[in-house]
Amino acid sequence: MGTPAKEGKPVTLTIDGFEITVPEGTSVMRAAAEAGIQVPKLCASDNLEAFGSCRLCAVEIEGRRGLPASCTTPVAPGMVVQTQNEKLRKLRRGVMELYISDHPLDCLTCAANGDCELQDMAGAVGLRDVRYKAPEGAGLANHFEARDTSGQVNPEWLPKDDSNPYFSYDPSKCIVCNRCVRACEEVQGTFALTIEGRGFDSRVSAGGAGDDFLASDCVSCGACVQACPTATLQEKSVIELGTPERSVITTCAYCGVGCSFKAE
Ligand code: FES
Repeated sequence: MGTPAKEGKPVTLTIDGFEITVPEGTSVMRAAAEAGIQVPKLCASDNLEAFGSCRLCAVEIEGRRGLPASCTTPVAPGMVVQTQNEKLRKLRRGVMELYISDHPLDCLTCAANGDCELQDMAGAVGLRDVRYKAPEGAGLANHFEARDTSGQVNPEWLPKDDSNPYFSYDPSKCIVCNRCVRACEEVQGTFALTIEGRGFDSRVSAGGAGDDFLASDCVSCGACVQACPTATLQEKSVIELGTPERSVITTCAYCGVGCSFKAE
């Protein structure tokens, strides 16, 4: 939903019938959250700049054409926004259906089961069925075809990158939301990650020699792992021991950067 707007002129708008006043520059998504309305989202997060790539957060704004992304649309005085109606529900189900059509269906054995935003959003938008199959011969789609219905991984899948001692990278589960790339840049200022390729062939790259995380500029801060909404980037301890029952987020006091760490 983008970082919070700095103090600005108050702007009053209506979201789902509720009148709300927020500082100028606030995104529609954040304004909705202030009113207790959660707009479905995947590429947005609380501590990263809005990116507007997943389109799950589309809303309807009176007098405006199209269905803009609420995470990248700033509020305006007198704006009247709808975050829920049949058209939006259908659009969001369609978006999620496309994501899941190119994603392994091994939730029950996945380390992120129960702690996966993709899984949560699929449920939230009411996705029950996937009508599409990824086209043959297209990038990750090959790997989708290679996983059977019981979730067994065929060796043809793009290999996991286990080179980093603390976390692993499984490209088959990546939805290319760019959150890891933005976290690396915005939280850590390292610029170790990028997105390579286009469409089905697009994927996160650490760009190191041999293209693995260990050989890249990655400093193992874990910002990318915390930002990942799926099990693409996953702590090895979670893969081995399962999701912890409780965790504490704390801010490191050693320097002025303000990095937050999750202790489990
Ligand atoms: Fe707004 Fe992804 S959450 S476009």
